[in-house]
Amino acid sequence: MLSKKIGIDLGTSTVLVYVKGEGVVVNEPALMATDGKGGRVLAIGRAASQLVGRGGKARTVRPVRDGNGVDYGVAGAMLQHLIGRIVGRQRIFRPDVMLSVGPMVTGVERRAVLEATMRAGAKTAYLIDKPMAAAIGAKVAVSSTDGIVVVNLGAGSTEMALIVLGEIVAIQSIPTGGDALDRAIEASLARTRGVRLKPGDAERLKLEVGSAITPVNEASIELNGDRDASGAPLRVSSSEVQAAMREPLEAIVAGLQRLLAQVPEARRTAVNRNGLVLSGGGAQLPGMGQFLTARVGIPARVASDPQSCVAVGTGMALDNLQVVRRGQHYIT
Ligand SMILES: Nc1ncnc2c1ncn2[C@@H]1O[C@H](COP(=O)(O)OP(=O)(O)OP(=O)(O)O)[C@@H](O)[C@H]1O
Ligand SMILES: [Mg+2]
Repeated sequence: MLSKKIGIDLGTSTVLVYVKGEGVVVNEPALMATDGKGGRVLAIGRAASQLVGRGGKARTVRPVRDGNGVDYGVAGAMLQHLIGRIVGRQRIFRPDVMLSVGPMVTGVERRAVLEATMRAGAKTAYLIDKPMAAAIGAKVAVSSTDGIVVVNLGAGSTEMALIVLGEIVAIQSIPTGGDALDRAIEASLARTRGVRLKPGDAERLKLEVGSAITPVNEASIELNGDRDASGAPLRVSSSEVQAAMREPLEAIVAGLQRLLAQVPEARRTAVNRNGLVLSGGGAQLPGMGQFLTARVGIPARVASDPQSCVAVGTGMALDNLQVVRRGQHYIT
């Protein structure tokens, strides 16, 4: 293969790059470190988070806010770096690049992202809607399905879409994702235990003892350095974490109910049969599928390797361009 086919999922927390024939070759924090003053790029991805961890004057910026707000400058610089990393210095066979974007990204921002991708060295640049990419990456036969709902649980946002015969026919996007779950855990522990968690500790609680449903086995972990009002080290249980996440989890249910209310009557039976497909990092929260099924009465399955679905589907879509909406590409 002369020209590479590259799919990029530039998310709120993570950036993944999929190369056809090679698989996911980049999976790093969506982070860029600059030198504070002039904004000179010092590092991106994992190197950027390590740089900041060592202190100094570096400032970090993210390319996407709450799943949908794109900062062109940062996104462009990251794309330049990532595409350069994949194709190296050879610029003879420029790659085809597909990027996934959230449904709330505006037309002006889409244009800017396409142009930035072209400047970064693409031969052709395409955009795909995140839920469509998620469904393809989850191995849903999108062009033949008679109705399936995909729920992509990201860090900054959750997108839910009904896909019928290769098209998104209804969509909901809410600014509630994994970051909102972390913030809810922080707020709840501040209220009930009088503590301020260290950065990263709320996410650690979610990952280690979090659950969307009542935990089967109660577990708890002790957080070093976070102390409650009495000064004792802080031990937090799984049911405490579950209770803390209730409100944002309910916001996700409400979004899903709004989407389901948009499902045309004639598609209801198909949707009930084909169910919900969960993707995104948040799909890995224990009990997430059972929780949503209990609340909306539709079976749910978690895609395999859910956090990679959008990136994999974005790359795979380069072989299936009819899933790209009209006007969502840039060819020179
Ligand atoms: N095992 C897990 N349990 C619960 N949450 C998890 C788990 N693993 C990852 N997450 C959460 O998933 C989120 C990251 O998911 P993902 O990489 O899909 O987001 P993103 O693509 O960067 O964000 P967005 O799509 O909103 O721009 C984080 O909030 C992270 O805490
Ligand atoms: Mg994402």
